This record gives sequence, C-alpha cells and structure tokens, in this order.
Amino acid sequence: MMKKKKVLVKPVKEPATDRTESVYQERLQRHIDELKWLYMELYDNQEFFDSLLENLKLFYEQRKPDLKRQDQKREQNPGWYRRNGMLGMMLYVDQFASDLNGVRKKLDYIKRCNVNYVHLMPLLDTVEGRSDGGYAVADFRKVQDKLGTMEDLEKLADECRREGISLCLDFVMNHTSEDHEWAKRARAGEKEYQDRYFFFDNYSMPAMYEKTVPQVFPTTAPGNFTWLPERQEFVMTTFYPYQWDLNYRNPVVFNEMVYNFLYLANRGIDVLRIDAVPYIWKQIGTNCRNLPQVHTIVRMMRMIGEIVCPGIVLLGEVVMEPDKVAPYFGTVEKPECHMLYNVTTMATTWHTVATRDVRLLKRQMEIISSLPSDYTFLNYLRCHDDIGWGLDYPLLENWGMLQVPHKKYLNDYFTGRLEGSVSRGELYNEDFVTGDARFCATTASMCGVEKAGFEQSEAAMGAAIQTDVMLHAYMLFLSGIPMLYSGDEIGQVNDYTYKDDPNKAADSRYIHRGKFMWELVENIDKPETVQGRLFARLARLEEIRAKEKVFDASAGFWILETWDDAVLGLVRESNDEKLIGLFNFSEEPRLAWIDEKDGLYEDLLTGNEWAASAVRVDGHGFYWLKRKKGETAEK
Ligand code: GLC
Repeated sequence: MMKKKKVLVKPVKEPATDRTESVYQERLQRHIDELKWLYMELYDNQEFFDSLLENLKLFYEQRKPDLKRQDQKREQNPGWYRRNGMLGMMLYVDQFASDLNGVRKKLDYIKRCNVNYVHLMPLLDTVEGRSDGGYAVADFRKVQDKLGTMEDLEKLADECRREGISLCLDFVMNHTSEDHEWAKRARAGEKEYQDRYFFFDNYSMPAMYEKTVPQVFPTTAPGNFTWLPERQEFVMTTFYPYQWDLNYRNPVVFNEMVYNFLYLANRGIDVLRIDAVPYIWKQIGTNCRNLPQVHTIVRMMRMIGEIVCPGIVLLGEVVMEPDKVAPYFGTVEKPECHMLYNVTTMATTWHTVATRDVRLLKRQMEIISSLPSDYTFLNYLRCHDDIGWGLDYPLLENWGMLQVPHKKYLNDYFTGRLEGSVSRGELYNEDFVTGDARFCATTASMCGVEKAGFEQSEAAMGAAIQTDVMLHAYMLFLSGIPMLYSGDEIGQVNDYTYKDDPNKAADSRYIHRGKFMWELVENIDKPETVQGRLFARLARLEEIRAKEKVFDASAGFWILETWDDAVLGLVRESNDEKLIGLFNFSEEPRLAWIDEKDGLYEDLLTGNEWAASAVRVDGHGFYWLKRKKGETAEK
C-alpha cells in the first residue's frame, strides 16, 4: 500500500470561538424581531430587554462543548425526541435509589425497562414539611442535600448522555417556596422583593380575585391568599400557603426565571417540564388560568431555548379541560411547547375502564388525530398527581352521564365501593361544597392487583394483570411518547404508609409515591410471579414498539370503527405500513366488527396470521395487527 503523503501545510481553521459565535448570531437573528416584539408588548422596557440579551449570550458561552455539539445535531434532526423507540419513565430520586449517585448506579435497570428518557421528580432545594413533593423550590440552583449536589446531577446527566438516555427536570415557574431568598427578603419588608410576588395590605383585592378564581386544593389548602401576621399583609398563594405566586408582570421575575431555566439547561438536561404553566399570569376578574400573556411567555421561552440551547425540549404541564390544552403547542409557525401531557386522554381512559364504554375515548382519539402531526403528546396511565375527572361533560350529557353524579360514580368505582369494581384507592381534595373530588392510586391497584393479592385469588390476579397489560398496550399504541410511572412495570400497589408521616398524611397523592420495591425486581425473571408476568409482557410490547417504524410519532393515527362500544379500534399508518390496535375494555370477550380488505395481517405478539375481519377479542384483551408486507392492494 502506498503511504499517504504528509500534509505539510495545515488547513486554516476558523477559530472555534468565531464559529460558535456565528452559530449563536444566526440563531439570535432568526428570533430577535419576534422576541423583542413580544417582550416589549408585555414589559415595554428596553433596559431589561438588553440585559436579557446580554445574559442569553453568557449562558450560551458557558454551555459545555458537548452540549453545543448535541444542540447542533438536534437542530439537524428536530424530531429527535419523537422517534419510535422513545420511552419515558418518571421517578422520585430518593424513593428509587436514595440519591442522584444511586440513580446513576441503577441506569442498567432503567435500560432493562427499555427506558431512554427519565423524568426525575423535583430535586431542587426545598424545606421538608413545606415542600409539596419538591414543588416548592427554595433555590433553583441547588440540589436537595439528601439527594446530592449540582455536580452529582451533572455527572448523572453526562452518563445519561453517553448511554443515550434523555433527562427531564421540573421547572416550577409559577411560584417559589416561602423559603426562597426572594420570599425571605419580601417577608422582611424589602419592596423590591415584594414586587416579585403579589402583596396586599387589606383583603379588598384578594376578595375580588376570589370571586372568579377557582381553588386548586380546596381541602388541603383552601383559598388563593395567605395572611402573613408578621407583615399584616396577604400574599397570593394559589397552591399551598408556602408556595408564593410569582408576579410575571415584573420583568425582573421573567428575566431571573429565564436565567434559572438556562442554568438548569446548562447542567445537561434534555427536557424541561414547565410546571403548572397555565397559572403564571394573574388578572382580576378572570379565573387566572390560560390567559393570553401565558402564551406570550411560553413562546418567548421557546425562542430563548432555540437561541441558547436548541437541544432542549419544553414539556408543558397543562392539566386543564380538553380545549385549553392543545393551544400550548402554539401554531406550527410560532410553536410554544414541544410536548404536552395527554391529560384528557388519561382521565378519559380511566373513565372508559369504569364504564366499559369507549364512545368518549373514541371522540378524544378523533380530536387527537385531527391535530397537526408535529404536536407531540406525552401519554401516560398514571403519574405522581391525582386524577381529576376533566372529561367532555357536554358530550357525556348526551349519553345521560351528568357531571356531578358521573364524577361520584367514577370515584365510587375506583375506591372499590361499587359492585364489580376491583380497584382500590383514595379520594383527593374532596370539596364538600361542590361535592367534587379527585382520585389517587397506582395503575396496578386500579386494575385489581391489590385486591387480588389481598384475597389471594389466582383468577382475579390473572384478570388484573390482563387489564394492566391491555392498558399499557393501548397507551403504547397512542400517538406520541409513552411515559411509564416507576413501579408500574412491576405492578406496585398503593402504599398506605404515608399516613404515618405527619408531613404527608393530609395529601393522598403520596399513596402512589411510595418507595420503589427493589425486592419485587428480583422476581422479574420468574414467570410464575406477578412481576415476572407483568414485566415480561410489557417488555415485549416496548421492544416491538421500538423496532416498528409505524410507531414513530409522525405516523398517521386515527380510529377504526369496531361497532362494539366496549372495543376501541385504532390505526397507525406510516409509509406503506399499517397497524391496527384493538382494545377490549370489558371483561367479556367481544367481536370487533372490522373488515379491512387490504390484505392479511400479522399479530405482532404471536406472529400468527389473521384476516382483519370480525376479530374476537378476549375480555380485557388486545391485538396489535400489522398488515403483512406487500399486502397493500384491495383484495
Ligand atoms: C404541578 C405538580 C403538582 C404540584 C403543583 C404545584 O401540578 O404536578 O404535584 O402540586 O404543580 O406546584
């Protein structure tokens, strides 16, 4: 072989700093006009805008080369987070593995669960007992002592990046803890800091707000204001009294919170979950939810992210009635959040489990399938919060299900009070005035695993596992990114020990925030155990999902009429691939009266060949049927 001639003259390289400088300028130019326009509309303050821009640049300069490289890669592939293999899991660091270093050591287990996107529940500094599960942040730049340090977080993020696992962190932007530096200074009487919150020296303004603003925690934290005796003033507290609402009319608040966002982004986070975002703008005479200014702020955050750290994805937590959710995607030209929780689908799913009637779910699927395919939902069965019954009541009323009695029915059903219910769980924030209540329990307990285990009934356990697997199969089939709740993969049931902890006892959400049971993980390879049965079946579904292109978030998605109100039929189609999903929400076998004349189908779980025509589906059973290759023509 001929030796290559040595190159004597080194190619002239553009200095790295200049290149990254031009990358930054190019991104800035793309957004500057709109950013300035929106900022001025809200704040009309050039000085603060200039200072915002200066700081954006600084955060960009401080971003690690690794992250900058990743940003550029993701800019080339903006749908990186929507690929078919994406599977999320949310977990509490302490409950899962004691601390951040513990989580790092458990990445193998996370990978074994086929998970490549981890949402670490709030881990920033908070005061025990006044923490709302970490959602009362005392310092946005400090990790809770018991969980580790910022360096540990960065180390974990680095390791995750190497392993191809994306990391999600909460950004609690509606409020700070009363123990945050700003709140302390405000309490001490510093006007500058009081202006970052909503302070009132008498009740006349709060009274006006209370006329139109609903309550988030009517039982555990009634009202939207808290009296501070030492100040003789009221402060606005939409959530718990120790969570002080930030005043985003003040540009300092916006700027400083943006810096906190970018600080976290620069630690190596991939997804930022913007917590309780609909609440961030307050206006007397309104319900202080979803106001237009909220959308302006989210749009600005999106642009700022695209300028400084375009590899970051914004996940909006919008737990609102159905028609309020999708607007947080913004428009295709002016996007806001990259991803949103599919909260309506989640609540509608459990409604369907209780009623065995898929009509409402079908309607919900129709709505989802009519949205632009760029809109990415995060699908889930359970999360750390309660289930609020945010359903389409006007539609349900047509079928004789009225809001108040229907919510009562659902709560009675899932607490196990109704005949035929296998679910176990507890009410949450029962409002004795309106009669309203929400519900808390784990997926497994809602599916009957807890009851069957308690009664030691093998038949009931089989049925419970079947329901649990069917619901996961359905969730994995939906359009968007699936998200598991840690513990669900091993069928963890409700944890009632929170009642012994005075800091938690009043908040039944802790029923599904228990310690992760590593002793149950030991069973996952034992097929005779509950964990063995559940874990293996979920793993199989996840593996199929990761392999099949038709599960990509960009695939077409619509409903398929089954002519049976207990069986949901769904279709995914991408290029020439077509997949049918059939999900039976009743405990009896049903016939799905479908008749797809476009060829033979393969059951992806068994490999059996089928005609997609009048398919019998077992009680709480399901099928994933894929059209066989080459079978596209009408037969
Ligand atoms: C979000 C969180 C919830 C918390 C609330 C207040 O809704 O999911 O757990 O209580 O925000 O921060």
